[in-house]
Amino acid sequence: MRDEKLCLYCGFCSWGLACLDTDRCVGCGACVDACPAQARRLESVLCDDSKKVKITVDGRPYHFPVSTTLLQALEKVGYIISGFPGEGQISAPCRTGGCWNCAVLVDGELKPSCITPVKEGMRVVTEPVAISEKPPLRLVSNFSPHQAGGVGTPHWLKPKGLFTATFPYVELACFTHGCNLRCPTCQNWEVTYTSRGSPVTPVQAAEALTLQRQQYNLNRIAVSGGESTLNRRWLLELLRTLRRLNPPEVRLHVDTNTTTLTPDYVDELVAAGMTDIGTDLKAIRTSTFMKITGVTNTGLAEELMRRSWSAVEYLLYRYRQEVFVGIGIPCNPSFVTVEEIQAVGRRLAALDSSVQVCLLDYRPEFRRQDIIRPAPEQMLALAESLKETGLECVTCQTERGNFGP
Ligand code: FES
Repeated sequence: MRDEKLCLYCGFCSWGLACLDTDRCVGCGACVDACPAQARRLESVLCDDSKKVKITVDGRPYHFPVSTTLLQALEKVGYIISGFPGEGQISAPCRTGGCWNCAVLVDGELKPSCITPVKEGMRVVTEPVAISEKPPLRLVSNFSPHQAGGVGTPHWLKPKGLFTATFPYVELACFTHGCNLRCPTCQNWEVTYTSRGSPVTPVQAAEALTLQRQQYNLNRIAVSGGESTLNRRWLLELLRTLRRLNPPEVRLHVDTNTTTLTPDYVDELVAAGMTDIGTDLKAIRTSTFMKITGVTNTGLAEELMRRSWSAVEYLLYRYRQEVFVGIGIPCNPSFVTVEEIQAVGRRLAALDSSVQVCLLDYRPEFRRQDIIRPAPEQMLALAESLKETGLECVTCQTERGNFGP
């Protein structure tokens, strides 16, 4: 339900969200996560248990209340659902209809189970071999050239200070929908939470990216988000196709919050063609990680943070010569102290003092309109204190552009 007092009437829940069943709410919760004003609340929608539909799942018949999503139905009958890509019987990392990693076959077509309502007579197949016969799908948008680059863009390619309209484009980018985090300062929330639109295959995305790269005469392609890594099969096939369609000198840059990466996933990304990676390390303390990411379960936050640090350690240990690694650290005094940023710096310097680290000035966005964007002088002072930890390549993003070596 919508709280009229809080609603900003931005309309996002109408134009951004694919409420697939227009007759009634099925309680997927996507609008609750997506609303910038927190005006949406999930009330019990399963109260009318008497009205049921019959569906078959992997050949077995089941009855479910009409106000149920497929994912809820599968969970109810014992399927193991994981929030991490490639884990569990069904992996549903975003639960807002963007990543399509939770897709199952519904009457022979892939559908995102997290937002798809059960319907009378549906034939559902969750069998991975049957699913793998279809090309993977994902919502992706904003295919366009970029001037600023990202965390994983080498600093010597980025404009310094105030960049102007005359600065050349740095890379061609696209933005994948869906994220496993719920950052209240999400800087790309309209992409992250949009579930409306037509999903694309990796080949379709790779062809569009390649064509634009050629038109703009660029030698870098970036995949950002949302969180790019949530649909593992889709991302790996995208990279392989990009590698095949583009000359070897073209760099393939993956931008990630790193919380889903495991050593075997990193190995697969490199084997598929990734040459550059921008990894956001949100924090070193669980309480700060929770404030920044909006993850409210302490155990889950610890696991996500552990995975992100382990992935960065593995990348620096195993692939430092082959892959350009850039690390982003969120900065805003309202949720992280200088001491904690320095603790992040010391841990990174012990791993590799030459790694590129970019301090990101978190500004008022999405649900956190109350915070104040750090001034450029504050960011430059933070960069100096980070260098004292032994890091040799510190850059910072400010409202007056990028500064650094
Ligand atoms: S978990 Fe369903 S679309 Fe991402």
